[in-house]
Amino acid sequence: MSDKKKDVETTGHEWDGIQEFNNPLPKWWVYIFYATIIWGIGYTIAYPAWPLINGATKGLLGYSTRTEVAAEINRFEEMNAGVKAELASMDPADIVGNEAVYNYAIQSGRATFATYCSQCHGSGANGVEEGNGYPNLLDDDWLWGGDITAITTTITHGIRNDEDPDARWSQMPAFGDDYLADDEITNVVAYVGSLSGLEFEGDVTAGETVFMDNCTACHMEDGTGDREQGAPNLTDAIWLYGSSEQAIETSVRQGPFGVMPSWNARLDDAQVKAVAAYVHQLGGGE
Ligand code: HEC
Ligand code: HEC
Repeated sequence: MSDKKKDVETTGHEWDGIQEFNNPLPKWWVYIFYATIIWGIGYTIAYPAWPLINGATKGLLGYSTRTEVAAEINRFEEMNAGVKAELASMDPADIVGNEAVYNYAIQSGRATFATYCSQCHGSGANGVEEGNGYPNLLDDDWLWGGDITAITTTITHGIRNDEDPDARWSQMPAFGDDYLADDEITNVVAYVGSLSGLEFEGDVTAGETVFMDNCTACHMEDGTGDREQGAPNLTDAIWLYGSSEQAIETSVRQGPFGVMPSWNARLDDAQVKAVAAYVHQLGGGE
């Protein structure tokens, strides 16, 4: 024990010969300590702090994280208000040529896609799984047209839905309902398969005759389809409803009827055009 320490008062406590000294705290420490107490009280008055039954005291400055987020959102909306209005009034065909509008459209369209479209088209827009009837939007193969104007129309009004009288519409007959005999169906399925190199059990030559008599009004003589009617290209090895013999036979027997909702009631003009621009560039952009 040093001599200096001996001069210091003790508190009088002693355990097994160990004494407790009564050293005063350094002044600077004590002042900082008092200052933090005063700061703490001031803070709880100025900012939301004391818990109440529903929430907490509001604080004199009226600060809240919610108003801060709202202000932040407003700031972004104000920043984009001009470009958004321009997009809303723009002819879809002109979007790609206007860099500022286009950049905004892709960003905002991506968010809209994730919220409203990904449950059917997949989060990467690649269809959820092959053959489920939800088209892959990445492949630049289009049922109804792949320029930005056609895509805008598809999204605005949807496909084969009753909500919108302007929905894109067409209907393939169910050829299993008395239109074609079983062997004619087997043969035409073999012919359709042969268009993209698939080999099935039916007679391809006989199937070609069935095809020319029944299918060309929509799928065209060469089988490449017709976008006016949303009739898919049957030669490109891209299948909306699956490529197995069974899947193709089901399409021919039942006539597929893919429905897509219309979006003009749920999204505003700028959102529709933005998501159209986003989808357009995914496919490489016709
Ligand atoms: C309820 C499911 C569903 C939702 C949600 C949906 N779609 Fe679709 N979409 C479909 C189906 C089914 C088709 C194919 C219709 C057909 O067979 O012609 C389709 C077709 C399309 C096409 C036409 C593709 C082509 O090849 O011509 C585009 C473009 C499209 N959707 C974009 C969107 C966008 C953008 C959204 C979100 C705003 C969206 N879809 C939301 C089901 C959906
Ligand atoms: C009235 C027009 C029309 C006629 C006639 C027609 N189709 Fe279709 N076909 C369509 C449409 C439209 C679709 C797409 C439906 C959808 O997207 O849900 C389709 C889809 C298909 C598919 C599914 C393609 C895929 O990608 O999965 C096959 C296979 C097919 N048709 C074969 C035939 C055959 C074979 C015939 C003749 C026996 C025929 N179609 C006659 C309009 C027609």
